[in-house]
Amino acid sequence: MTDLKPIPFLDLKAQQARIAADLKPRIDAVLAHCQFILGPEVVELEEKLAAFCGAKHCVSVSSGTDALQIAMMAEEIGRGDAVFLPAFTYTATAEVPLVLGATPVFVDIDPRTFQIDPAHLEQRINEVKAAGKLTPRAVIGVDLFGQPADWPAIREIAERHNLFTLDDCAQAFGAIHHGRRLGASADATATSFFPSKPFGAYGDGGALFTESDERAALYRSLRTHGEGKARYEVLRTGMNGRLDTLQAAVLLSKLTVFEEELDARARIAAAYDGRLGNAVVTPARVPDSVSAWAIYAVVLPDGAARDKMQAGLKADGVPSAIYYPRPLHHQPAYASAHDGAALPVSEDISTRIMALPLHPDLTDQDVDRICQSVLAHC
Ligand SMILES: Cc1ncc(COP(=O)(O)O)c(C=O)c1O
Repeated sequence: MTDLKPIPFLDLKAQQARIAADLKPRIDAVLAHCQFILGPEVVELEEKLAAFCGAKHCVSVSSGTDALQIAMMAEEIGRGDAVFLPAFTYTATAEVPLVLGATPVFVDIDPRTFQIDPAHLEQRINEVKAAGKLTPRAVIGVDLFGQPADWPAIREIAERHNLFTLDDCAQAFGAIHHGRRLGASADATATSFFPSKPFGAYGDGGALFTESDERAALYRSLRTHGEGKARYEVLRTGMNGRLDTLQAAVLLSKLTVFEEELDARARIAAAYDGRLGNAVVTPARVPDSVSAWAIYAVVLPDGAARDKMQAGLKADGVPSAIYYPRPLHHQPAYASAHDGAALPVSEDISTRIMALPLHPDLTDQDVDRICQSVLAHC
């Protein structure tokens, strides 16, 4: 056991202290104008985020999950449709197709980058076509842990099979792929502003990005109950899916430091690579990309080594986390939707993966202490 103070896995208090001078007047401005829903800060944020990632449209919404749902609703995806997605991701990615009556078809991942495996995606599409029960409609690629999925490969496959591509960028807003920020790599991109995300609000929030004028208009309508141009004209079944103005004010403030924070995350990831690369399997980089480093995950030889490491880290005041302890096809909620295909990489990685703290307010001393602890418990 250590006498040192535990290191926080995430430090939103330290971040708040850094942005306080900018944040407080923005919040006061909202409290003064009282336009709490779709106020001017929401419009300003959408313009700034679209410019930040080079997308034509940004439509802010109430969460990353609602962003995925609105994108699927706009394509009228539902009963009898197959939606391809990785088995190794957060539950929301699979939940949305099921909520809409569609069937998630789980795809395996690359063992080194943890991103959806394009060759297996193609195989799964062909299997669904051969079985003849479901109509392949969409693929949700997830930019897991902050690195981009292999979008050129996913798009090429999707185009050949006439599938809608949705980028679940909940963990990777700010990441760069082939010289461009994520936001226009798929037909639509969904992100999350959940507080623990690299670009997080102080509550739930999310956004959709698209190059399509039609899709952007549909997203705006769907997030406000399917509203038409006139108030109380209801054109389609929608939802209450708006981002609130206070969250937009918080995000505008965080945007002023976001690039510095991304740089700090990258520096810490590089330090972990250098210090830990000979002791544990450190994350392989997706070629020609810059990660947003939502999560820094290492892979250990087996589950026993992971248990030992987590116990040792805990005794040293170093937190760790497991993303994700079960692939989604093994979750009770999704098991009955799964067609029984083997997904050996997702199954194996979930038993051995472990995340270390990574946030912009970790000090050099914190990083040193984390590395020493990992090396001591290998
Ligand atoms: C990969 C992924 N997809 C979707 C979501 C859902 O985002 P939210 O929590 O904002 O609904 C999350 C976040 O938690 C996520 O990590």
